[in-house]
Amino acid sequence: MKVLVVGGCGYIGSHTVVELLKNGEEVIVVDNFSNSKRDVLDKIKKITGKEFSFYEMDATDRDGMRTIFEKEKIDSIIHFAGYKAVGESVSKPVLYYRNNLLSTIVLLEMMETFGVKRIVFSSSATVYGSPEELPIKESARIQTTNPYGETKVMCEKIISDFVKVNPGYEAILLRYFNPIGADESGLIGENPNGIPNNLMPYIVKVANHELECLHVFGNDYDTPDGTGVRDYVHVTDLAHGHILALMKPLEPGVHIYNLGTGEGYSVLDIVQAFERANGVTVPYVIEDRRPGDIASCYADITKAKEELGYVPEKTLEDMCRSAWNFVNHHN
Ligand code: WQD
Repeated sequence: MKVLVVGGCGYIGSHTVVELLKNGEEVIVVDNFSNSKRDVLDKIKKITGKEFSFYEMDATDRDGMRTIFEKEKIDSIIHFAGYKAVGESVSKPVLYYRNNLLSTIVLLEMMETFGVKRIVFSSSATVYGSPEELPIKESARIQTTNPYGETKVMCEKIISDFVKVNPGYEAILLRYFNPIGADESGLIGENPNGIPNNLMPYIVKVANHELECLHVFGNDYDTPDGTGVRDYVHVTDLAHGHILALMKPLEPGVHIYNLGTGEGYSVLDIVQAFERANGVTVPYVIEDRRPGDIASCYADITKAKEELGYVPEKTLEDMCRSAWNFVNHHN
């Protein structure tokens, strides 16, 4: 199968390209390096020993994307290319709406023109907002509290409306919970520019003495230790979820799946797991809550298990070890 991976040099995209190549698929990567680095291409080749096609291109560039579809016989698409910083989306909403929606619209236009029948879309648990019940099922209420989350809800709607009027087409919407960790090689991982917004990359920089201490955003939530609870999933397990979605027999229509582990861990659970797994210390201070944060969020992954055969295998220790191993490969 020839798979077009849009945003294939990013954190989740690169790990999925590695698993696709290991699975023997033919891969075409598109990326504009707006949130990734060119050297990831060589690292993917080093990990897998496989070749693949690459196009440096912005997925919102319709004429540019058309040249790829004219040249390559594409069977399926995985669309990772989207801006994803919640805070930045609040200060730059139009940038987020333009990039995340237009890239999706261009891909749907290409699918219709060139008869590409399947798209897997990188969505997010952020579409659930503050959940009414836990664990969260795919049928849970959708509500978002920031432009980034809104782009995910809108893209899911645009894709669903497209599939409704295109019989024989399939869309698989994968709602990620909190991906962390790195490929076992240590060659690729989460390497955000500047001060990380997310918990794990921040912890890694504190342990690596690049940042002084972790600021824990609130310990007065209604959770076992008062700090925020999330469903952390190893990025390689997440990548496997994409392979399973692509490999299942094509079923026209829209299919939605939560990809997490079904387990919730607090901020302090993660700090202690990271210290224990790596023999390091992560000093922290308790701060006020971060605006927009919710107390608890973790997935019901029953549907993905039953329909895709998705079974996350990596432990919290694996996630912490691999995140630290990635940094040590970079020191
Ligand atoms: C996790 C927990 C924080 C940093 C976001 C996006 C979501 C998805 C994943 C794209 C929370 C706490 C964090 C820190 C802290 N991104 N924390 N100190 O907010 O669950 O989800 O990233 O798809 O869409 O919303 O992830 O890692 O930022 O926070 O105490 O320096 O860690 O309060 O409880 P989040 P996160």
